[in-house]
Amino acid sequence: MRQRVELKFRDEIEFLKGWKRNKKAVGAIAPTSFVTARKMASVIRLESDLPVLELGPGTGIITKAILARGVQPQNLTSIEYSPEFCGHLRAQFPGVDTRCGDAFALDLALGARRDAQFDCVISAIPLLHLPVAKREALVIDLLERVPVGRPVVQITYGLLSPVVALPKQYEVRHLAFMLRNIPPAQLWIYRKTG
Ligand SMILES: C[S@@+](CC[C@H](N)C(=O)[O-])C[C@H]1O[C@@H](n2cnc3c(N)ncnc32)[C@H](O)[C@@H]1O
Repeated sequence: MRQRVELKFRDEIEFLKGWKRNKKAVGAIAPTSFVTARKMASVIRLESDLPVLELGPGTGIITKAILARGVQPQNLTSIEYSPEFCGHLRAQFPGVDTRCGDAFALDLALGARRDAQFDCVISAIPLLHLPVAKREALVIDLLERVPVGRPVVQITYGLLSPVVALPKQYEVRHLAFMLRNIPPAQLWIYRKTG
């Protein structure tokens, strides 16, 4: 119990340090709650045997929930912008394919895995400070990397989805409102329908 509290405290300190370094890129004032992380990870379809792509793992709460869902570490690719968070993630999750890179330059960040199909994408990168066209382009890029019908899940602290409308072959759906999160968060799902 004491060790768990210490680990959580350490994550929070790491998070605050990251937030101080780059407030816009970190985009939140506290790590995601485990309840929220678990809800995001609940969309993973283990039977697909496809890897999972995580964007913006930060201190790794969502990474932990993805692994707890049953994904093998080598089947998880996590892309994180901050080199400090990357070091922390690699130490905490040595088997996970953690890549220090930019979600907006995915081919570069994914390297040899750039043509991979993923079961789904679980994203915590902040989008609200970016132009709408850039957000839409990212979601469409992500949806090209998952099978038809499989989700890109995005957490956000605004009322609306960061991407409100997409071309007609895609859908935007509300997944959940997470009150047990600081601040309370909305989860959105994007999918290709045909
Ligand atoms: C809201 S925080 C994630 C919080 C994380 N769920 C946690 O509990 O620690 C957003 C994360 O996305 C990362 N990030 C922001 N922009 C990014 C980008 N373009 N590519 C990859 N990571 C990015 C930030 O460095 C930060 O770690």
